[in-house]
Amino acid sequence: MIIHENYSLKKLNSFHIDASAKYFVEVTSLKEIQTILSSTIFRTTPKLILGGGSNLLFTKDFDGIVIKNNLSGISIIKEDEECYYLKAGAGEVWHNLVMHCINNNYAGLENLSLIPGNVGASPMQNIGAYGVEIKDCFQELEAFHIHDKAKVNFTNADCKFGYRESVFKHENKNQFIITSVTFRLNKKPKFNISYGAIEKELEAMGTKQLSIQAISKAVCNIRNSKLPNPVEIGNAGSFFKNPEISKLKYEELKTEFPAIVGYDLENGNTKLAAGWLIEQCGWKGKTVGDAGVHKLQALVLVNYANAKGNEIFDLSEKIMNSVKQKFAVDLEREVNII
Ligand code: FAD
Ligand code: EPU
Repeated sequence: MIIHENYSLKKLNSFHIDASAKYFVEVTSLKEIQTILSSTIFRTTPKLILGGGSNLLFTKDFDGIVIKNNLSGISIIKEDEECYYLKAGAGEVWHNLVMHCINNNYAGLENLSLIPGNVGASPMQNIGAYGVEIKDCFQELEAFHIHDKAKVNFTNADCKFGYRESVFKHENKNQFIITSVTFRLNKKPKFNISYGAIEKELEAMGTKQLSIQAISKAVCNIRNSKLPNPVEIGNAGSFFKNPEISKLKYEELKTEFPAIVGYDLENGNTKLAAGWLIEQCGWKGKTVGDAGVHKLQALVLVNYANAKGNEIFDLSEKIMNSVKQKFAVDLEREVNII
């Protein structure tokens, strides 16, 4: 285990921001994590746990230690009549885990195909797509407490999952290194194709028999058709969350803007499509220097070449202001600003 100094993070964040870390280390075992937790550098400088770097925006160099979590391993640890319990190391690539499940007929994660990043970050914001969130299959996770070095298990309830939310973004922020996540996967699939575009895509694919393989393929096709590939264009997926407003406010907005896109929530509120709000403010496809708003998906901010993190941040600020001005709606950033 080598602790590097002044280490470039450019290839380790999907926005391709040219930032560096004062110290950088990769860990591949629990023992290495324990060693790092006890080191003087760790105890005396700011720390950042890094997965695939696909939900971060570096606005400056990181003046502390970045720990890249590479813990690997995927195994079934238990099964009962209905489910397999699959444990995955935090450093496993998320989509590889999903493909492993698809290939072995473990059902539940298929709608979450092609989400970038690693397993260890998946509980941070309860990753979600196409009608499914990881909370639907999450059994438990193991983590190390950064200060007292104790190993702690979190159940589904402990994580307090919500829409792009968990305790790890709030009361437990920056306190734990997640080392593994265990998922509860169905032996008999419960297909979820309620998200409009999936059914249409399955039809277009000529699917005769519904399967987790077909759903995964449909989701990959939809994602590839509108989301920029971070290998080609720097981005971190949706930059903002879809905002939740009261039904009353939604009805008022609907009178003024009949085409507004909103979805009813179980709690009686309405979730607005932030992409629509941003597009209506004229931002879709706009660029400011090398920073920009993607031309197919206005919720995705992009780095076309050498944008600085704070240029992308400033652009996000301008977008938030114009959405506030036009619709009196507050956007909240989904991406973690560092
Ligand atoms: P990182 O960006 O490395 O880290 C994210 C946060 O988690 C940071 O605060 C970091 O400190 C913390 N963290 C990471 N690993 C650990 C760990 N082991 N222990 C403790 N803290 C940790 N997200 C969705 O929910 N749905 C989508 O559909 C979706 N689509 C996307 C599409 C694109 C093209 C891109 C680029 C991103 C998309 N995202 C989506 C966002 C992103 O893929 C997820 O948030 C993903 O879980 C981030 O994983 P990561 O390993 O890259 O995390
Ligand atoms: N829309 C526009 N203009 C745009 C973009 C979207 O009008 O430029 C409207 C359209 O009406 C469209 C609707 O918004 O039908 C919804 O768009 P889309 O299906 O692309 O989904 P989204 O709400 O923009 C969310 C998640 C994505 C996730 C998809 C699929 C958030 C913040 N984003 O996007 O997650 O993949 O749904 O479930 O909830 C991410 O978190 O990084 C992410 C990509």
